[in-house]
Amino acid sequence: MKTPEKFVISGGRVLHGEVEISGAKNAVVAILPATILADEPCIIENVPEISDVTISIQILRELGAKVEFIAPHTYRIDTRSIRNHCVPYESARRMRASYYFMGALLGKFGHCRVSRPGGCPLGDRPIDQHMKAFAKLGADCKQDRGMIDITTPNGLKGNQIFFDCVTVGATMNAILAAVKADGLTIIENAAKEPHIVDLASFLNSMGADIMGAGTDTIKIRGVKYLRGTSYAVIPDQIEAGTYMVAAAATGGDVLIKNVIPKHLESIISVMEKIGVKIEQFDDAVRVSVDGPLVKTSIKTRPHPGFPTDMQPQISALLCLAEGTSMIKEGVSEQRFQYVDELRRMGADIQVDGKVAVIEGTGKLTGAPVKACDLRAGAALMIAGLAASGVTTIEDIYHIERGYADMEGKLRALGACIEKKPITPVTKQNEPIIQEVQPEKPHQDAV
Ligand code: EPZ
Repeated sequence: MKTPEKFVISGGRVLHGEVEISGAKNAVVAILPATILADEPCIIENVPEISDVTISIQILRELGAKVEFIAPHTYRIDTRSIRNHCVPYESARRMRASYYFMGALLGKFGHCRVSRPGGCPLGDRPIDQHMKAFAKLGADCKQDRGMIDITTPNGLKGNQIFFDCVTVGATMNAILAAVKADGLTIIENAAKEPHIVDLASFLNSMGADIMGAGTDTIKIRGVKYLRGTSYAVIPDQIEAGTYMVAAAATGGDVLIKNVIPKHLESIISVMEKIGVKIEQFDDAVRVSVDGPLVKTSIKTRPHPGFPTDMQPQISALLCLAEGTSMIKEGVSEQRFQYVDELRRMGADIQVDGKVAVIEGTGKLTGAPVKACDLRAGAALMIAGLAASGVTTIEDIYHIERGYADMEGKLRALGACIEKKPITPVTKQNEPIIQEVQPEKPHQDAV
């Protein structure tokens, strides 16, 4: 039971200073389940404080793992005590990435029973390629009343897996299932995102034999035993990109620290086209604006293309640029639901299928809005920071799934932002005694 909260932003403050980027959400949500494959305890460092991590740890504990918080952003995880191989709907629906428990449990125990992940506001997101990969390795996957039962009548055996589309989740799940399978697995048309390389590096640090992660062909030779390791999660490239855009949208000057600039190449290239000045250092980028922001055209693509997870944030920036910009969504089914909320702030955006046309108006105005998913929430935060007047953002649990202490980090950069409980109002708009409401299920988890 948690009182719903909102962010209240008084816009128009220029962001200045330094911000430290946390560990990558999309890496850690795979690395935490991957500890199930270890035959000794692991220490995971640079774990971001986000609700998707809280849920992943809760699932590990429900399975029987011992998870200890041993230092800031650091956990010791011992999965040798796992006896339960089932992730029920109540846990799986809270986080879409719960599907990684399938690959990890299957890879370790040869069977599992995991609920299909919950619904998703990003449109239809099938998991047929995950099932295809498991089947190629010899698994028998059956679905019954929302639960996926996976067994391996003859054990897991290495094989050739060709994905029909480039998919991050299925690539990671295939790696998890294949790492202890007998013989050689070759994954073709694999996704190449930095979090795939990070999962492979984590498993290799335990003694796995994975080659080619980060290219479209990954080769995995199965091993019998994975020893304990101490491993630091990579910095979150999308969190970094979000602060880069926030700095630019407010005309600020911000040093974004603890990043891998190579992971930011496509974001840097697009932002430079928009007229943002970016200096790169070994593990930091400095973002500033010394001229007008200008229109551009972007198509989102799998890595190394411009990430779909930055599309809403860059749209908010293009609302502030001069001229007509165009964005084509090349990865997700539906990723323009946030547009209605941006329009409430004065944005002029027309959407036709997977294409959005943005007329840069040069300004936004504060309004009450709702986050409909994680990156939509990030885009509204950016819009609110740049807008004149006050913006209130509801349904912020979406934002807290993937951004560690976003209001604290923004406040340290000079933003005027507060988190406040939502007080229900009567029909006459009179505040009533506040009720404590059950926490909303995280149905869009990604
Ligand atoms: C990952 O989702 C990310 N989530 C998403 O991050 C990200 O948007 C997405 O990759 C694309 O980069 C995590 O890493 C936890 P996909 P995932 O499988 O793995 C189709 C964020 O904001 N497809 O790469 O679920 C699918 O429909 C989020 O942090 C199939 O058809 O995405 C989609 O069109 C949002 N069948 C495309 O592939 C399948 O079996 C890419 O999906 C699997 C996918």
